[in-house]
Amino acid sequence: MDNIIISPSLLSADFNNLAKDVELVNKSKADWFHLDVMDGVFVPNISFGFPIISHINKIAEKPLDVHLMIVEPDRYIAQFKKVGADYLTVHYEACKHLHRTVQSIKAEGMKAGVSLNPHTPVSVLEDILGDLDLVLLMSVNPGFGGQKYIENTYKKISQLREMALELNPNLIIEVDGGVDASNAQKLVEKGANALVAGSFVFGSENPTQTIEDLKTLNF
Ligand code: DX5
Ligand code: ZN
Repeated sequence: MDNIIISPSLLSADFNNLAKDVELVNKSKADWFHLDVMDGVFVPNISFGFPIISHINKIAEKPLDVHLMIVEPDRYIAQFKKVGADYLTVHYEACKHLHRTVQSIKAEGMKAGVSLNPHTPVSVLEDILGDLDLVLLMSVNPGFGGQKYIENTYKKISQLREMALELNPNLIIEVDGGVDASNAQKLVEKGANALVAGSFVFGSENPTQTIEDLKTLNF
């Protein structure tokens, strides 16, 4: 089995004791930190921004996988680089000139990702796929942790992996939303190689063990 990237979402971490959860991820089998930035406009929720990310970056020992759920992300690309983003993912639905946005992310020295909402077909990525490091498929409507996985995502993963075989064989396909013991194995079988998990990890009795279970698909 290929290496599956595990990216715990700190949205479900304990913000009264964030350093503790960052340390937990540092010491776990996780690969990345998934950081959800929400602006209250693109999604009906507001999360956190630069100061929090910058503080996380000071103690995080793994790459920061930053998921922007914001309008006009172009305005902030340089600032996200400055606070430590390694992977910067923007939403297809939030970008008028996606090609330009992707090139700007790469010009700043970050890996570029594009995310699709559940209703957006993967076919819209055909002409940009070769430029991307990562596609983040939303398997819930973005905005909140703890929602139920949308079954149609399996089909989208298969279609995207098929497209990627031809256009970008090294593409990382990341799935975000409602990932847990009931679907992780099948998501990987369909072609995902990065899994985001928030409530499943931080809502569990033993987050370190849950991360390891995801990493090894031990369910
Ligand atoms: C939702 C965010 C997710 C969220 C996932 O808009 O993009 O990253 O934290 O949370 P769970 O794993 O609880 O669905
Ligand atoms: Zn996310």
